[in-house]
Amino acid sequence: MKIQDIKCIGVLGAGVMGAGISQTAILAGYKVITRDLTDEILARAKENIINGHFGLKEAVEHGKITQERMDKDLANLTLTTKVEDLKNCDLVIETIGGGPSGQVENKDIKLKVFAELDKVVKKNAIFASNTSKFTIADLAAVTSRKPLFIGMHWFSPANLMKIVEVVWTPDTSEETIQAIETLSEKLGKMHVRVKDVPGDMAHVGYRVLFAAQEEARKIVEQGICTAEGVDIIMMGGFNWPAGPIGMSMSNRANRVQKK
Ligand SMILES: NC(=O)c1ccc[n+]([C@@H]2O[C@H](COP(=O)([O-])OP(=O)(O)OC[C@H]3O[C@@H](n4cnc5c(N)ncnc54)[C@H](O)[C@@H]3O)[C@@H](O)[C@H]2O)c1
Repeated sequence: MKIQDIKCIGVLGAGVMGAGISQTAILAGYKVITRDLTDEILARAKENIINGHFGLKEAVEHGKITQERMDKDLANLTLTTKVEDLKNCDLVIETIGGGPSGQVENKDIKLKVFAELDKVVKKNAIFASNTSKFTIADLAAVTSRKPLFIGMHWFSPANLMKIVEVVWTPDTSEETIQAIETLSEKLGKMHVRVKDVPGDMAHVGYRVLFAAQEEARKIVEQGICTAEGVDIIMMGGFNWPAGPIGMSMSNRANRVQKK
């Protein structure tokens, strides 16, 4: 699958990331088919895309796009509960989470979903996972399309953050890597190639962030400095926009607020 052949993008999961990715892709002129489990979840995603903070209405109000453009781009978005509706997509971006325990990352569910998806979606379509944690090769292994399988790791909010980690396995073809890199540019993102490794280690961004947060937590536990103090040092000393502890609190708050 070459970049010029990618016309229709399937997005699996319409949560925080799925809605942001869908919004970004329609604004770049792609036809997007977004699938989640219930109409209620899909309605909430559409509401976020239109009226949410950084949504399309806000873009119109700020003069970034016209109302006509918003209406035209929205017409390219299909929301569905039927996985079969993704069958003719040229690329499917998986960004699912959840499951009975409610955890965002659930490997068993992703494996099950990719195995099912492999049977439904046309054989030459690219599969990309937005997982922040799991080894991409493990997910690819349940499909019959390892050369077409890649990690496309976005950051949140997906429509604003500028980086995509392009995570390649030894089986990912160079054509697939280049298609996702060029697509990232068309979606207004910078991209960095990241080698996939065994062990569900996260890729680069979160691995570095979690290490910093873990070290900050130890410093507070050891009574070396207060949590607030650690954040002030990192912001004042290194120009970090937020401290490692404040950042983990705000991640948690976002998640609780969403529920
Ligand atoms: N939130 C972030 O900051 C962030 C950043 C980068 C990557 N990610 C990754 O993106 C993925 C999704 O994260 P999120 O924050 O959007 O989670 P979320 O909980 O907001 O959304 C996940 C959605 O997946 C849906 N889902 C579950 N099973 C499904 C299925 N079989 N088919 C279709 N939809 C299904 C759920 O109903 C839910 O709406 C995770 O792998 C996560 O690690 C998240």
